[in-house]
Amino acid sequence: MALIEIRGLKKAFDGVQVLDGLDLDIHEGEVITIIGSSGSGKSVLLKMIIGLIAPDEGSIKFDGIELTELTEREWVPIRRRIGMLFQEGALFDSMTVYENVAYGLVEQGKTSEAEMRRRVAEALTAVSLPGIEERQPKQLSGGMQKRVALARAVAMEPQVVIYDEPTEGLDPINVTRVDRLILSLRDRLGITSIIVTHNMRSTFRISDRVAFIHEGKVAIVGPPDEVQAWDDPSIEHFVARAKMKLPSEKSIPPPPAD
Ligand SMILES: Nc1ncnc2c1ncn2[C@@H]1O[C@H](COP(=O)(O)OP(=O)(O)OP(=O)(O)O)[C@@H](O)[C@H]1O
Ligand SMILES: [Mg+2]
Repeated sequence: MALIEIRGLKKAFDGVQVLDGLDLDIHEGEVITIIGSSGSGKSVLLKMIIGLIAPDEGSIKFDGIELTELTEREWVPIRRRIGMLFQEGALFDSMTVYENVAYGLVEQGKTSEAEMRRRVAEALTAVSLPGIEERQPKQLSGGMQKRVALARAVAMEPQVVIYDEPTEGLDPINVTRVDRLILSLRDRLGITSIIVTHNMRSTFRISDRVAFIHEGKVAIVGPPDEVQAWDDPSIEHFVARAKMKLPSEKSIPPPPAD
């Protein structure tokens, strides 16, 4: 059984059908990347999985639980199991990096101060930003802020992490860092990752499977080589660039220190 089972998802905004009967299975412990043109509904799909947008029709089951019918109260334990890095990636400007990363743990109210310090330090180390706890977000570059937002998403050690454009605006070294972090979360903790990105190099080097959204549906889903070999014109411009050079995940170089 899939960890997340999406069936017949439909959503229209102002008479425009964005999702039109979308089906997708997401397996426990996999890195799955969702690709598709701008406006194809990728962010909408991610927001539906965490209950921020309700579908017009269709079903999303997480571990057998029907998410589209949950009350706000019933969402609380589910949200702890699913972390999300938003496309906007915003940090709270009035809080330190420490307070930002610890935010979810504080809300949850179950972790001791010492344990929280340890978890935050570990999450910042995982994004290659150790020791910046006392800084303010505005003192950081855009790329560093993005990685702090990523540290906040992973500090909770959720079962699933959803990333909307985790590498947008990052330089190639930081793209590599984020790619390695996603793989290490899978390999060390068995975390399931759902990624939306326009970065085809990242997509084809880190994904266990790739799903291509087109005209409101998943047009193709499968391992990277299968998706690349699919010669439908709708996907061709997406993969054309990535086809030229296809590094394997083992060929990702280790990032230099900051
Ligand atoms: N809350 C909303 N109200 C009205 N329309 C919306 C809303 N959210 C999304 N849309 C519309 O739904 C469509 C899909 O948006 P979405 O943000 O999912 O695209 P996307 O695939 O993530 O694009 P990008 O790659 O540019 O991030 C767009 O036309 C968008 O304007
Ligand atoms: Mg989007």
